[in-house]
Amino acid sequence: MDLETRVLEEGKRVLRQNRRIIGGHEVTIPAPGWFDHQYLWDSCFHAITLSHFDQAAAENELISLMASQHRNGMVPHSSKFNFRGMLLPYTSNITQPPLIARATLEVYEAAHNTAFLDNMFPKLNLYYEWLSKKRVREGVLTVASPLEAGEDNSVVWDDADSLRLPKASYILYDYFATHFPKTPQVRHVFSVKETALYADSLQCMSLIAGILGNNELSTRYERQHEKVIESMRKVFRHSSGLYYNLNSNGEPIIVKTHSIFAPLFAGALPKEEAETLIKEHLLNEKEFWPQFPVPTVAINEPKFSPTGYWRGPVWMPINWIIYSGLLRYGFNDAAQMLLLKTLVVVEKSGFREYYNPLTGEGLGAREFGMSTLPVDMVMRNGTK
Ligand code: GLC
Repeated sequence: MDLETRVLEEGKRVLRQNRRIIGGHEVTIPAPGWFDHQYLWDSCFHAITLSHFDQAAAENELISLMASQHRNGMVPHSSKFNFRGMLLPYTSNITQPPLIARATLEVYEAAHNTAFLDNMFPKLNLYYEWLSKKRVREGVLTVASPLEAGEDNSVVWDDADSLRLPKASYILYDYFATHFPKTPQVRHVFSVKETALYADSLQCMSLIAGILGNNELSTRYERQHEKVIESMRKVFRHSSGLYYNLNSNGEPIIVKTHSIFAPLFAGALPKEEAETLIKEHLLNEKEFWPQFPVPTVAINEPKFSPTGYWRGPVWMPINWIIYSGLLRYGFNDAAQMLLLKTLVVVEKSGFREYYNPLTGEGLGAREFGMSTLPVDMVMRNGTK
């Protein structure tokens, strides 16, 4: 068996093993014994990967995710707490990276089941409407807490506001913001990654509406998408040419993280700028190209830590976002190199939650669902 086939087979095994029926809903939990809820972006990635080998499971994953949608349209970052197979009443007050339309489109394209698309579409409309009302500021997406970005302890949040309170107070605040609906939102990080995912999803919504014959909505989503792309440039582009997140006061948070590459995912950069970004930063051994890329923080940043949670290690959803961006621009050589290095680290250390980018050592949870994304990366490479 070659490397790709071994990773494919193991990835399928892990996702199958993590499937549960919770309260009548089919769910893939991120990692047994570590994360037993259903999580929003995990489920989107699980569904995308499942669609390569179990279509019904992929569709049910997204249908069960939307079963937790709040009446106002919000989809919680986690839900369906699993206690010995029982569904306990649980929901959260924050959302997660808005990939649901991208996942829905990919799952649809695997089998062209229009009934699935019909089922998802009204719920997706509500969700993207909620985001545009509650999270969009100055035309880009803001994030209420690091958990909402799926990056719990990211360095970006060290400088998210000017109050600079002790870290413990933010952890306490985030706990309340997550679990108690009336907690006011006091922090707004203007997030490059979330905006790129949002822009892409608006384009997916336009395509989905088109497939379902709703031309009016299709045009409306396409326009909304174009406006977000324009705003990204205005809001995030720094004089250095890099796109930085902004803190709650609208000031750039100047630290090189993986999010400088997120605009590629949305096709938001002119081709020459994209080329420079890849040559000077991604394929640069001093920044984002150590032996096991892609570190979530550049290795020459003072805050880089090879083992700190979201403070340097490799996370597969980020490799997937960057890989997708490279493919979108036709940077096939860089995409191939990234794919190979990604497969190597997974083969070396298994499907761990995250990896040390200097040694390839696996860290955190084991049998971690989102780390099976290399399966999708291989399948999209057209080699299997
Ligand atoms: C951690 C990760 C987050 C993920 C969750 C469940 O909180 O930071 O990205 O969604 O675990 O796997």
